[in-house]
Amino acid sequence: MTDDFAPDLPAFHLRDPHAHFRRLRREDPLPWYAGSGGAWCVLKHADVAAVSRDPQRFTSTRGVQLGFSDAGSRPAGIPPTILEMDPPVHDLHRKLVIRAFTPAAAKQQETMVRAIARECLEAIERDGVVDLVEALAVPVPMYVIAEMLGVPRSDRPQFKRWSDSLIEAGGGHRSPATDAALGEMLGYFAGVLAERRRAPKDDLVSTLARAEIEGEKLSDPAILMFCITLLAAGNETTRNLISGGSLLLARHPDQRARLLAERSLLPNAVEEMLRWWTPVQSFIRTATRDTELRGKRIREGDVMLLLYASANRDEEIWGDDADRFDVARDHARQRHLAFGFGEHLCLGAPLARLEARVVFEELCARFPRFELAGEPQLLHSRLIHGVERLPVAFRS
Ligand code: HEM
Repeated sequence: MTDDFAPDLPAFHLRDPHAHFRRLRREDPLPWYAGSGGAWCVLKHADVAAVSRDPQRFTSTRGVQLGFSDAGSRPAGIPPTILEMDPPVHDLHRKLVIRAFTPAAAKQQETMVRAIARECLEAIERDGVVDLVEALAVPVPMYVIAEMLGVPRSDRPQFKRWSDSLIEAGGGHRSPATDAALGEMLGYFAGVLAERRRAPKDDLVSTLARAEIEGEKLSDPAILMFCITLLAAGNETTRNLISGGSLLLARHPDQRARLLAERSLLPNAVEEMLRWWTPVQSFIRTATRDTELRGKRIREGDVMLLLYASANRDEEIWGDDADRFDVARDHARQRHLAFGFGEHLCLGAPLARLEARVVFEELCARFPRFELAGEPQLLHSRLIHGVERLPVAFRS
């Protein structure tokens, strides 16, 4: 392995990691990396899928983010998130909310999502230069999840401030200000929860307030944790599918022209954006016992870094042109791993797909010729493949 292979460093991901991934998939597709406490780097599509579908051998209970791989260090009284559970406990929690996240349920959200996307696009001045991240990619997922949690419109500005703090803290930039904002947010949801216990509505907080696991109601901290998890898991991910997808369309005029000529390709184009961009670059698992993978001896307690970004360019699955962005690529037979795989397959996948499809339908209808108007600023993160600023000229 070369010295500049450092998947735990944001700078590595900013400098196009795919040259490294490509070479390693060929030469040593399961290398040991000594940084950040050490991890096996799982680069092949088949291996990421195999580890993800085997929670008995590879647990989520020791944390899912590299560098945070000791769930034992969680402060007392903070329950684990659904991401950090294994079956059978995990299945019980997932069942509580699955009905709100099926493809059929997502379909019912379409009118609401479209209204939010239109509102954002209508606020954009024609013939001006606008940051697409701030104007579109940030507000759409945030207001959609706010609606689902039952946050009224009048509370949106403070909700945005809290969500930003959540993202900042999640990105490792914890400060007294972010802690204070998170405290306010928890207090706010505690109030919503108390209200919904008194007078249930048709929203997720009411669903969670009613929910029982083996005859027992969920505790307030568990419900609040669920709300925060949905916010954290649904916001920045979908934001970067929208911003990353927009950047791809701006940089590949031939692909955009094809899409404009053949709008029915849009759902497939969203799959290709997910594959090519891969908003979540990696999660981890921890080996529960000594075992073997690809001929390597894995020891109990070893961390497995699931590099979705690499699996989604694996030539064995996607062919020699895996690096090409192709809105017509066949996604019916092959499955990208941008939403993970197995037990923890992204709960919000149908919703994220719907949001992206609706946003791009509306964007292409209103501003089919949007163009880059400056250098995009990419997010400095080892977890999220993101765009921080995307200056775009919206021509009439
Ligand atoms: C493009 C957008 C999104 C991407 C790329 C994404 C990615 C992922 C990935 C890779 C996982 C697997 C975690 C693991 O295996 O440890 C996951 C799980 C999860 N996602 Fe998403 N996600 C997206 C949108 C959303 C949305 C919109 C929501 C909800 C509003 C959401 C909620 C969740 C939850 C709750 C889990 C945990 C599921 C479980 O543990 O059973 N995600 N997501």
